[in-house]
Order: sequence, then structure tokens, then C-alpha cells
Amino acid sequence: MRAFFVCEEIRGIIGMSVLVTGGAGYIGSVVVEALLGKGERVVVLDNLSTGHREAVARDAVFVEGDMRNGELLGGLFASHEIDTVMHFAASSIVAESVSDPLKYFDNNVGGAHGLLKAMVGAKVGRFILSSTAAIYGSPESIPITEEMPARPLNPYGLSKLMIEQMLAWHDRAYGMRYVCLRYFNAAGASAVHGEAHDPETHLIPNALMAAKGTLDRVDVFGTDYDTRDGTCVRDYIHVQDLADAHLKAMTFLQAGSKSAVLNLGSSVGNTVREVIESVRRVTGKDFPLAYSERRAGDADRLVASAGRACETLGWEPKKGDIDTIVGDAWAWMQAHPNGYD
Ligand code: UFG
Repeated sequence: MRAFFVCEEIRGIIGMSVLVTGGAGYIGSVVVEALLGKGERVVVLDNLSTGHREAVARDAVFVEGDMRNGELLGGLFASHEIDTVMHFAASSIVAESVSDPLKYFDNNVGGAHGLLKAMVGAKVGRFILSSTAAIYGSPESIPITEEMPARPLNPYGLSKLMIEQMLAWHDRAYGMRYVCLRYFNAAGASAVHGEAHDPETHLIPNALMAAKGTLDRVDVFGTDYDTRDGTCVRDYIHVQDLADAHLKAMTFLQAGSKSAVLNLGSSVGNTVREVIESVRRVTGKDFPLAYSERRAGDADRLVASAGRACETLGWEPKKGDIDTIVGDAWAWMQAHPNGYD
């Protein structure tokens, strides 16, 4: 594959680019910002089904389109010198995947298949996958290490596991090197890029909208989980810490390292009630809660052991404290009261 024959020192000089699929989305846009900040050339591919054109940094080349469009992808790889792909474009709402699994197998698995086919055709051999803790299902113990069994509870997690498995076979057959980054709960914002989903399903932005007064209450889904206060425990990781890990994963692959699967989390668990208290503390505002039934597909506790990522990449989360994460998300929401509109 072409990527292994290019002297790394001259990447910049000969104009190699990183392709970021889903670069108009929440995590992708923050990673594009970080890549450009390091002087990388970036091509963004996004079909804008959930992303925002305004979230794509001006210095990136933007291609609007879908990964299942083979002609478009063939042309994209032919017209840009791409040596690394960071793949974010995907449907990612756990509950929706339970009610509409076809969408997840089509968009996520079908999209990855289209992308991999074009990469093999263009001999591009480095892949960084936006994977997920949803792969683990409901683990028997926490923290979760990468050796623990992958038993997804929902089609979203299964779709990402299927892509990981596809990558393993692409490594074996075509020498494609990859890093699967299994994120726990991405949250927070940079100064310019933040979370703007429609509809919004995630806890932190929903609680912030309640603090702001644009939601009249926050639903707490389930109070009978096997956790310290009965609500689900999640490991919230700052989106800028995630971005930093992507840059380090790229350097890792450029050094000719073997493929790897790594958890990315802060290694701290917070319950839904604790997150809500953090939002009240950071914003100084109170808001009503509505206790309701469990949400389909939710696991009791997901907390990472991120030791392997720290050792492998020389990475560590710097903004793991929940008040820091909530504070950055709040600052972005206040600076962007209508999201990207
Ligand atoms: N929750 C509420 N009220 C809300 C929103 C969420 O109580 O309004 C609860 C959920 O039931 C869950 C917790 O808050 O217990 C976190 O829910 P999110 O929707 O914020 O995030 P998820 O844990 O469902 O999923 C996120 C990503 C997935 C990823 C997963 C990995 O959206 O893509 O983290 O842990 F797989």
C-alpha cells in the first residue's frame, strides 16, 4: 500500500492529505481543527445528513457526498494525495439503532465497505476508526479493558464491531494498518466547534439546554440500574482529548506500527444524577427533572481502562474532570445559541 513507501519527513512537502469522513460532525470537526492546527492538509467528506457545512474549517477541502458512492470516492482518491483516512461518518444514536437497525447496517457497515473498497483501489493503507464503548455491551466488571468480550447490546455497537472485524481482514489481506479508537462518552467542545444534533439525544447538551431554558426539563432514563444511585454510569471524555488521541494514532501508524485497538476514556465514571449536578454547579441554574423508564439499549456502567491507549500512543486525557467538560460545552452553547445556524 502506498502509505508505507512515502518517506514521512517529506509528507508535507509533497502535499499528502488526511481524509476525514464526517468532518462536518461533532467529533470530526474538532479533529479537523486539531489537524489543521498541526499543519496537516485535510479533505473532508460528509453527506451533511447530520453534519453542518458551517462546522467544516475553511482551510479544509470539502467534498459533499456519501461513502456508498463508489464513483465519487474513486474520483476523490484520484484527485487528492491521501495517505491516511480518519473515519467518523456514521449514525451513532443507540436508541435509534434499536428501532431502526437497517439504517445502521446500511449507513455504518455499507458506508465503511464503500470507503474500504475505494481505499484498497487507491492503495491507501492507514485507517483510524471512530469506534465505540457500545461494542462491550454490559460488561461484567469495570473498568473495561480491550481484552473483555465484545457483546454489543444494540445494532449501533454491532455495526462498529463489524467494521473493526472488516479492518482486521483488510490488514491481513492487503496490509492495511489501522487503529480502532473505542470512545466512551464524547462531550465538551473547543472554542469554535461543539455539539449540535437535531434532535439532541445526549445527556450533557440536553441538561445544558434545560439550564438555558430551551428545554423545560431533563428526562432521567431509568433509576433502577445496578449503580451507586440507580442511574447509568458513563465515562465522559473531552472531545479535545479525543482529537489529541487521533493525531497521536496517526503518528503511530506513520511510524510503521502494527494495528491496534484502544479504549479512549477519562477512566472516571459519573452517574446521570452526578452529571446533572455538575450542570447545575457549572451553570448556576436549576431545572426540573422527569424520571422515566429505561431507554432501550442502555448498559448499566461503561467506564474505560485507557491504560493501553496511554502506553501505546503516549497519550493522556487532560480535560477529564466532569466540570471542565460541562464548562466547555456550556461556553460553546452560549457563544453559539443557535448551534451552527
Ligand atoms: N440520558 C438521560 N437523559 C437524556 C439523555 C441521556 O437520562 O436526556 C442518559 C442515558 O439513558 C444514558 C446516559 O444518560 O444512561 C448517557 O446517554 P447519552 O445519550 O448522552 O450517551 P450514550 O451513553 O447513550 O451514548 C454515547 C454515544 C454513543 C456511544 C456511547 C459510548 O452517543 O455513540 O456514548 O458509551 F456508543
